[in-house]
Amino acid sequence: MTRERPPVGDAIRAALSATEPTEKVMAARKVARDWRLGRLIFGFDRAMPNRPGRPAEPELLPPNRMPKRGRGGSLQGRIALWHALAHIEFVAIDLALDMAGRFGAEMGPGFVSDFLAVAADEAMHFVLLDRHLRTLGSRYGALPAHDGLWQAAADTSHDVAARLAVVPMVLEARGLDVTPATLSRVQAQGDAVGARILERILDDEIRHVAVGVKYLNVCAERMGCDPEKLWISLVRRHFPGALKPPFNDSARSTAGLSLSATRALAS
Ligand SMILES: [Fe+2]
Ligand SMILES: [Fe+2]
Repeated sequence: MTRERPPVGDAIRAALSATEPTEKVMAARKVARDWRLGRLIFGFDRAMPNRPGRPAEPELLPPNRMPKRGRGGSLQGRIALWHALAHIEFVAIDLALDMAGRFGAEMGPGFVSDFLAVAADEAMHFVLLDRHLRTLGSRYGALPAHDGLWQAAADTSHDVAARLAVVPMVLEARGLDVTPATLSRVQAQGDAVGARILERILDDEIRHVAVGVKYLNVCAERMGCDPEKLWISLVRRHFPGALKPPFNDSARSTAGLSLSATRALAS
C-alpha cells in the first residue's frame, strides 16, 4: 500500500516554523531531499508563516544597536566575525525556504527545485560555520545578532520579482563583494580551515545569485520588459540606499548580474 504523498508546501512550512538550529537544518535538508526524490507533490495549500521560527538565542537587535566587533585578530573579534556569518546563513535557510514556499505555486516546480537546493546549501553553510565557531570555543547563539535580513524579505512578500531583485540579487550578491576581503583577513590570521569554508561558500553563493537572475529573467519575460531595467526599478523601489562598491566584478558576471546595472544602482 502506498501512502499519499504530502504537498511540498506543508513540508516547507514545517521547516520554516522549526525554531532550533539543528531542527531547522535537518528539516531544510529533508524537504530538499524528499522533493528531489519525488516524495512530495507540487502543492501549496497553506500560507507561509509571516515570521519563521527562531531559537531563543541569539538575541536579535536592530542593526544600530549591535555591539562593535572587537579587533580583527583577537579571539573575540574572530568569534564575532564567524558568529555574524553563521547568523547570515541561518537566516538564508529561511529566505530560500520562504522563496520556494511563498512563490512556488506561481513560478512552477523548477523554481521550487532550485530554491530548495539553495536552502539545503545554506543549511550546510550554517553547519560549517557553527562547527568552526565551536572550535574557537563559542557557538551560534552566544552573541547577539541583527534582524535586518529578514526585514528585506518581509518587505517584498507581495511580489516575487521584487523579492528576487532584492534578496538574491542585492543581499546575496553583496556577499560576493565582501567575501574576498574577509578571506584575505582570515588567511592573514593563519586560519586555513576558515579560509576553505569561505571559499566553498563563495562558490555556492555565485550559484545562488545566478538562480535569482534566472528567475528575474523569467518574470521580465512574462511582463514583457527588459530584465536589467526591471531589476533597477525594483531595487530602487524596494531597497533603501545605494549598492556599495567595491564590487566583485568577476563573481558578479559569472552569476549573470549586469555590471552596468550594478553601477547604475551604486549612485
Ligand atoms: Fe550561504
Ligand atoms: Fe546563498
